[in-house]
Amino acid sequence: MAIKKTNTRVDTKTTKKAPPLKKAKLSRDQKYQLYLSSVQNPEADIQFINKEFKSIYGKAPLVLREDFCGTGMMACEWVQQSKEHKAFGIDLDMEPLAYGVVNHFSELSEEEQKRMKYINGNVMSPYDFKSDVIVAFNFSYYLFKKRNDLLKYFTEARKGLKKDGAFFIDLFGGTETRQELVESVVHKKHTYYWDCSKYNPLTSECLYYIHFKTADGVKHDKVFTYDWRMWDARELLDILEDAGFSKCHIYWEGVDKDGTGNGVFKKSLKADNCESWVTYIMAQP
Ligand SMILES: C[S@@+](CC[C@H](N)C(=O)[O-])C[C@H]1O[C@@H](n2cnc3c(N)ncnc32)[C@H](O)[C@@H]1O
Repeated sequence: MAIKKTNTRVDTKTTKKAPPLKKAKLSRDQKYQLYLSSVQNPEADIQFINKEFKSIYGKAPLVLREDFCGTGMMACEWVQQSKEHKAFGIDLDMEPLAYGVVNHFSELSEEEQKRMKYINGNVMSPYDFKSDVIVAFNFSYYLFKKRNDLLKYFTEARKGLKKDGAFFIDLFGGTETRQELVESVVHKKHTYYWDCSKYNPLTSECLYYIHFKTADGVKHDKVFTYDWRMWDARELLDILEDAGFSKCHIYWEGVDKDGTGNGVFKKSLKADNCESWVTYIMAQP
């Protein structure tokens, strides 16, 4: 939910931890608008999924299940690709789902709406349909702190896939992500803050906040809170294997001449130990 996928190594400014921020209340719509314009990039995610799926199965994926979908922005974008594309968005919380219905779903044509379904449910539950692709993006599965819980979720995701299916997760890391730091990104009408408030090296638990400063200069603190465990890439690959996935691919972002991320992710098992990175894993059932 937190870090935009491309150029995370460039567009950010890192400062030492700021003093406590002034409390203020945003409306539901304001908070999701600020969030979506800061962290979501569904076009880039879909492009990546289509390319990687096709490189393995030689065809386009048609049915998407967006786990932890929040507002379901990606699922709504997915069904606009063709009349054969279908999507399901699953989330426990009615608040983001309601925002998504009013702001993303309502923008679809009637025909597209028939191919997109929001499910107010738990990603740990079994569902009676199978998907070509299941995604758990914006690191939402980091909320599982115990290996057994993550294993159970990954197992359910595998069971929810067709034989020629793919499970995509994103992950982030880097030396800076385990330090108490506030990262800020200035947008046209607001500033986004990603605040690593606590990190416990013994349990890998971390507490992150998103704050925003709006155009009127008011700082809204702790608009979103994430009480997570930082999962290590190698550990994720092991858990996916234990969940029964037959093959996993891990990617790494290429760099431009100036050393910043170029948004192109390629399969790799080698990476620089940089300060901050975001990448994907794809697992085949
Ligand atoms: C970090 S947000 C990500 C939302 C969305 N993927 C995005 O990028 O905007 C995590 C979401 O997961 C949902 N969630 C948490 N536990 C869940 C569960 N067990 N099943 C379904 N949704 C869950 C929360 O309600 C929340 O909307």
